[in-house]
Amino acid sequence: MARYKVGLIGGDGIGPEVIGETIKVIAATGVKLDTVVYDLGADRYLRTGEVLPDDTLIEIKALDAVLLGAVGPPIGSTQVPSGILERGLLLKLRFELDLYVNMRPFVTPKGWNRFNIDPIDMVVIRENTEGSYAGEGGLLRKGTKQEVATQGSVNTRFGVERVIRYAFELASSRPRKHLSLVHKTNVLTYAGDLWQRTFNEVAKEYPDIETAYSHVDAACIHMVESPSRYDVIVTDNLFGDILTDLCGAVSGGIGLAASANLNPDRTGPSLFEPVHGAAHDIVGTGIANPMAAIRSGALMLEFLGETQAAGRINAALEAYEIPEGIKTSAIGDAIAERV
Ligand code: IPM
Ligand code: MN
Repeated sequence: MARYKVGLIGGDGIGPEVIGETIKVIAATGVKLDTVVYDLGADRYLRTGEVLPDDTLIEIKALDAVLLGAVGPPIGSTQVPSGILERGLLLKLRFELDLYVNMRPFVTPKGWNRFNIDPIDMVVIRENTEGSYAGEGGLLRKGTKQEVATQGSVNTRFGVERVIRYAFELASSRPRKHLSLVHKTNVLTYAGDLWQRTFNEVAKEYPDIETAYSHVDAACIHMVESPSRYDVIVTDNLFGDILTDLCGAVSGGIGLAASANLNPDRTGPSLFEPVHGAAHDIVGTGIANPMAAIRSGALMLEFLGETQAAGRINAALEAYEIPEGIKTSAIGDAIAERV
């Protein structure tokens, strides 16, 4: 049986707690992982000043996959400047490993109806290496009355086309065969033009896929009023970030939302992480829900080709209703047992 070399970056806040439960559940499937624990995140930074040392990055590039909990200091922390960990660790990994697809599936659990809306079954494909996340811009005359801040958005034909192609392929594999582009082409007329033209051109190669377009603000309305109109969505990095938090909230809660940062060309490892953040306010309380991380673990197994094991985890998650007041580790135990 194959063994996989998987890097574990628990990270900050509840990250290590939810990754611990994920490993427990994967072990129950019988899939063998050789895990390498990486001490990265706020604590490491405060202790040593290091965010992602070069030799660690080289090591990570040789792994089969990475599981990540959450990265980021407590909100309002003055010890870790904003963005140091997000840009220096999380985004650096996405860029260096060329994880250009951020795949975020959302499926409303049976019986869950907190907002009284249609059940959701969709996948958001978020471009993950460009847009406003590329870091274009800077500060001029910082701290003076004439200071200027610019923050650009990088959109390349190459980057846009490859993620759109991935989305068409995914839509082809799903029964509904429907793909929506989400952007803001009425205002972001340069980037929007590139996205829309590329989308239209690639669409010609997929005549059996029905396509649609939503402005991102309208997509927010649809997401709470008529989310069933969506099957697969493809969108840019920042819109995808914002929209998927909303999708998570309306499709079962952010405690269930999983994500796969994929390098579909498999020139290196892909990285799997829950959509939620470090939630420093609940660290150690045992109330963190590990289901998003566990679901991300299933996405990892699926990408590694362990389809059966992934299916067992997904089935266990689907059948599981969280009992009132249950603790993080008891949820992990219950799901591992069902697997
Ligand atoms: C996410 C997170 C990250 C992002 C942050 C932590 C940099 O919000 O994965 O959605 O903005 O992409
Ligand atoms: Mn986010």
